Amino acid sequence: MKPLGPIPPGFDTIDGELAIGGKTASVLAEEAGDTPLFVYSRTLLDARIAELRAAMPERLSIHYAVKANPYPPVLAHMAGLVDGFDIASGGELAIVQAAGIDPAEVSFAGPGKRDRELEAAIAAGVTLNCESEGEARRALAIGEKLGATPRMAIRVNPSFELRGSGMKMGGGAKQFGVDQDLAAALAREIIPTGAEWRGWHIFSGSQALDAEAIVETQANVLALAAQLADEVGEPLPKLNMGGGFGIPYFNGDTPLAIDRVGAALAERFADLPETLAETRFCIELGRYLVGEAGVYLTRIVDRKESHGQTFLVTDGGLHHQLAASGNFGTVVRRNYPLAIATRFAAEPDEEANVVGCLCTPLDRLADQAHLPRAEVGDLVAVFCAGAYGATASPMEFLGQGAAQQVLV
Ligand SMILES: Cc1ncc(COP(=O)(O)O)c(C=O)c1O
Repeated sequence: MKPLGPIPPGFDTIDGELAIGGKTASVLAEEAGDTPLFVYSRTLLDARIAELRAAMPERLSIHYAVKANPYPPVLAHMAGLVDGFDIASGGELAIVQAAGIDPAEVSFAGPGKRDRELEAAIAAGVTLNCESEGEARRALAIGEKLGATPRMAIRVNPSFELRGSGMKMGGGAKQFGVDQDLAAALAREIIPTGAEWRGWHIFSGSQALDAEAIVETQANVLALAAQLADEVGEPLPKLNMGGGFGIPYFNGDTPLAIDRVGAALAERFADLPETLAETRFCIELGRYLVGEAGVYLTRIVDRKESHGQTFLVTDGGLHHQLAASGNFGTVVRRNYPLAIATRFAAEPDEEANVVGCLCTPLDRLADQAHLPRAEVGDLVAVFCAGAYGATASPMEFLGQGAAQQVLV
């Protein structure tokens, strides 16, 4: 038997089934007309952001990293909840523009921005988080060609990392940002051109659950931002402090203590150095905002035995849930939170492997899980599916195609 990850709070049971937004899994699948299906909950999105705002200092703006879940209805809903957005491509720019989001509150990070992406972003008035000297110079030249004033920040590659983070994006040789020792010189090159100077973006990691690690990183970010602003010789207009707030995916993971993070940040904000006195601060979060608000529903199409083990074969799999299958940056595969949605209230009484429909042994949703006995036609729910699901999985693999998505 292998443990499953912890099911996030906030889900209901109706008639013994998992219910989201007041509807059972069966009704949601029937209304969608087909499975597999991602279901995102407005109520859970609202609750998460309300809880975060209550914990964080008022001065801190909250930005949403669109890459976590760019589904347009989710984005439209988030527009009423957060203060800004971070995008990672020209494609995501088009999505935020279609949602009518104010470009003044959008920043664009990511290495390898093409000229046409820089052009579209500058024309729209989006802030570029420049990832290199070369990119900054291309942006300035494009601004001049367009007769537009680029809004420019520099993504700094800090010499520290976010301890315990699932993905490290700072601390050593990285393709992200400008090394901290070179950042002030680049700012001094950008500012006199008349570009709108938007300050630093310091993003050092992702998926951290240890509040102390985040507190320590935020202190380092503030110190570095002040030091670089001193080197530039100007007060800092904006500081994007990064994010890295994680969610519990696996057995033994515990939720991030955001009250502790917020209290420590409030203390820092009360004692800022002169160069940061007027600075606007934001964090950018993806999975923390949307991850736990989404569920992936997939139907069991076969039940079989092999060498004494039970296999529940579903119509979904890694083509929609690469991360849950253990193939998205995981070293040792562990089970995500998962349940038999149509028997949510039932006690577990057998050990089963839940697999996808692809002809690869990599396509596993749960290994040796303790579950209520399920039959063909039952629905399986994979939790923590609100971020890096639908668009972070190879949906065209083996001709399977996209999953349905719905916001309830
Ligand atoms: C620049 C940047 N911002 C935000 C994020 C979102 O991270 P998460 O979803 O873990 O909050 C990432 C993740 O890769 C990132 O690279």
